[in-house]
Amino acid sequence: MFAKRTNWNLETNRLSAALAAHRAAGKPLIDLTVSNPTECGFRYDEEGILNALRNPAALKYEPNPRGLAVARDAVAQYYAERGAVVSSNGIFLTTSTSEAYSYVFRTLCDPEDEILIPAPSYPLFEFLADIQDVRLVHYPLVYDYGWQIDFHTLEQAIKPWTRGVIAVHPNNPTGHFMKMEEIRKLNEICAAREIAIIADEVFLDFALREKQAATFAANSEALTFTMSGLSKMCGLPQMKAAWLIVSGPELLKEKALARLEVIADTYLSMNAPIELALPAFLGQRRDFQRQLVTRVEENLLELDRQLARQESCSRLKVEGAWNAVIRVPATRTDEELSIDLLASKGLYAHPGHFYEFPSDGHLVVSLIGPEAAFAKGIQLLFSMW
Ligand SMILES: Cc1ncc(COP(=O)(O)O)c(C=O)c1O
Repeated sequence: MFAKRTNWNLETNRLSAALAAHRAAGKPLIDLTVSNPTECGFRYDEEGILNALRNPAALKYEPNPRGLAVARDAVAQYYAERGAVVSSNGIFLTTSTSEAYSYVFRTLCDPEDEILIPAPSYPLFEFLADIQDVRLVHYPLVYDYGWQIDFHTLEQAIKPWTRGVIAVHPNNPTGHFMKMEEIRKLNEICAAREIAIIADEVFLDFALREKQAATFAANSEALTFTMSGLSKMCGLPQMKAAWLIVSGPELLKEKALARLEVIADTYLSMNAPIELALPAFLGQRRDFQRQLVTRVEENLLELDRQLARQESCSRLKVEGAWNAVIRVPATRTDEELSIDLLASKGLYAHPGHFYEFPSDGHLVVSLIGPEAAFAKGIQLLFSMW
């Protein structure tokens, strides 16, 4: 009765089952995986946010496949402030970055075509690809005093049926930005083979002690789809607003825009109150980002203080985004370690294999949680060895 693409193994994995049992038993828990910014104690301009949702213009329906011009102009202005010229006509508003991915996969891929994705990276992509009948092929990121793309393996992974390369900039959970030389090389490879770059920039504004990273939004050498949205940038995942920007060689760009317009026109998934409020939401991002980056820096400092007092663990370099990767003794699988941490310490941390790390010995911890709980959690973690 059902489509093969939905034949997922929906059995709860051992760690999720252990977590559910732990919660059901009402046992104390320190959660080092928190990723919901609305639950981390940040101050929001509550009045400004709620007032922005009371715009009388929302009483009128003006369907537009790209989304209302006032919202797209605000997005173009965000890029202008980063020094990138983006025309409102090249922007499509979507309800999430995930929806933007689905538009791009639908525009580029026939069933079974392939998209290259980095490993390690965020696990959401597997389901997104399954739903669109797209195959994902990993290309490795290697860690050597910082993360970098293994371009040799990436090039070998490209087949005649490869349609795009995803670049997560900065990546989740490694927190590294693509460097100018890597962007140049990726452009060269994709332009020569006529495949697209799909740039996920949801964490672009969260750089630590680095200068502002370059955006792909005006990238012109290869056909490029750049995505971002309010969920991370403004800490407003509940508002469901994101966007997709098309850039690249003029002819390819025009063709992509025409196809995307049909897809977007079919769904018309945005809603007027949020579109009209988007300029105000974007306007409060700096205050949120300042608080979040301060939190991340404080938690990293605490992590380093505690790392200095023990000898079993270390951390990988973090350039930005919301997570840290901790190297732990690989005496068992990361999943077994996470289950044991939960049972013996009441601590929840993500195992590296959740993000396709190539080997055991990695835990991923969120850096955006409140400082006291983070410090306590790290103390419990290091008391394992
Ligand atoms: C790299 C990356 N891309 C996209 C998303 C999803 O973003 P959205 O809430 O806009 O769908 C996430 C969520 O954590 C993410 O980590």
